[in-house]
Amino acid sequence: MLSYQHLYHAGNAADVHKHAALAVALEYLTRKDKPLSYIETHAGRGLYDLTAPEAVKTGEAAQGITRLRDRFPQNHPYLKALAAIPDGLYPGSPAIARALLREQDTLHLAELHPQEYTALRTNLRGPSIHTYPQDGLALAQSLCPPTPRRGLMLVDPSYEIKAEYAQIPKWLATLTKKWNVGVVMIWYPILTSGAHRPMLRSLQADQPEALTHEVRFPPARDGHRMIGSGLFIVNPPFGLGPELKSLSALFRDTS
Ligand SMILES: C[S@@+](CC[C@H](N)C(=O)[O-])C[C@H]1O[C@@H](n2cnc3c(N)ncnc32)[C@H](O)[C@@H]1O
Repeated sequence: MLSYQHLYHAGNAADVHKHAALAVALEYLTRKDKPLSYIETHAGRGLYDLTAPEAVKTGEAAQGITRLRDRFPQNHPYLKALAAIPDGLYPGSPAIARALLREQDTLHLAELHPQEYTALRTNLRGPSIHTYPQDGLALAQSLCPPTPRRGLMLVDPSYEIKAEYAQIPKWLATLTKKWNVGVVMIWYPILTSGAHRPMLRSLQADQPEALTHEVRFPPARDGHRMIGSGLFIVNPPFGLGPELKSLSALFRDTS
């Protein structure tokens, strides 16, 4: 039984890192007219009310989006995505993708938690949006190579099940054999325990050309184990590396 609910964490510093990098990558990919496939293995509910008791209780958004938003340059694609969302709501990654993608693009969104899936279906609707109440990693293997073949996949597990750390490198090795042109972005937490490190080492050994981008931030509260956010990106769009360096600067001195 899944107990993780992203509403407690929506808009935290890790979300800002992941969503801003996603927005930049999509901005690069949409410079060409050719249609894209966008696939999310762990979509969440798509839209979050940061005034909900769950979000207020952790205060994570206050240390994330509320604190960091003004640091972004006005023409940043992440701000463009935020501006497309109704006031008072924070976009999850599927809503960011929908805001930046075009009519010719197709979205495939998997979410396993029944309540989150129901909310996702309500929040993200459209002729080219497909939602699946399924295991996202298995779905991704069955969709790949997608049509259209150009595209991006976001892999954003909660790592609630510790076996996911060992599963992901093997899963990626199979996936990239089927879809060798796709941009695959895998998010991971940077933890005081270092639990993420063996997974990262395996990914880097298997995909030496991929890009790793990490930012650090203070723990959301005393004793919180997450002290940073990482992205491992296979087939990064040309130009993404320097853009991510600028993103790092926005996270400096967030205490
Ligand atoms: C970190 S949240 C996703 C947040 C979202 N990507 C965003 O940035 O807005 C992880 C989500 O994955 C869902 N989940 C957990 N295991 C899953 C699985 N095997 N397949 C699909 N979804 C899963 C959880 O219910 C949760 O909503």
